[in-house]
Amino acid sequence: MELGLSDRAWRFLLAALTVLSLMVAGAVGIMLAATPLGALPAQAVDGLFALSSPQALWYVTRAAGLMAYFLLWLSTAWGIAVSSKLFDPLQPRAWTYELHQFLSLLAIGFIVLHVVVLLGDHYLPFSLAEILVPFAAPYRPLWVGLGVIGLYLTLLVTITFYIRRWIGARAFRAIHYFSFIAYLMVTVHGWFAGTDSALGTTQWLYLGSALVIVFLTVYRVVMARAQLSTATAVGAR
Ligand code: HEM
Repeated sequence: MELGLSDRAWRFLLAALTVLSLMVAGAVGIMLAATPLGALPAQAVDGLFALSSPQALWYVTRAAGLMAYFLLWLSTAWGIAVSSKLFDPLQPRAWTYELHQFLSLLAIGFIVLHVVVLLGDHYLPFSLAEILVPFAAPYRPLWVGLGVIGLYLTLLVTITFYIRRWIGARAFRAIHYFSFIAYLMVTVHGWFAGTDSALGTTQWLYLGSALVIVFLTVYRVVMARAQLSTATAVGAR
């Protein structure tokens, strides 16, 4: 049977039916949630993520801390590789440089989560001042203090990506050297402040990642020296 509806009318009908079905599904869901059957998925999610445990936020801060560490490590390693021209035969420099910048931002996102969650954590409670002022923490103040300084240095280095045009390449490079100190501080912070450092896997994670940074740094220095001696030899000719 031909209804003779225009395309516009069909689309409107389809959208109205979708909205109506969603409303019906939502209403059924709400009614089911009020029955004993509805408690099951809630219990499963609660059990999986320990949501009603007083330690729930503590788990989040630990997971975010490890993720932030991994991303900061990746950004540091990537940055050294980019400046050593390791990727130049594979990808345009602009692309690898932008990825380096993006990884730093992503690391900051997880650092913010790691830190902000501590404010609401009842298991390991922190005040804003204890988070912002180095060595003022109620828990392992020395090791947490290194994390706070690591955060400030990471922020400083990342900001220079956006003000490079105004500060010049020389200042940009000089400030970028702080990323080595930031990485070192954050590694020591994670190892000595973290609960998970008691696990062999986590210890291998820290050791393995730190070794990659040492290796890439040595490679960078050797390459820079080789380039310098070639330039000097060419200049002397
Ligand atoms: C204001 C700055 C910071 C504060 C107040 C802070 C606080 C803390 C605290 C209290 C812990 C111990 C949690 C536990 O019991 O395991 C911790 C662990 C950790 N933090 Fe931070 N942190 C800061 C910055 C950072 C930064 C910048 C990173 C990395 C980029 C980082 C990575 C880690 C890691 C990897 C752990 C170990 C997690 C674990 O073992 O489960 N933190 N932090």
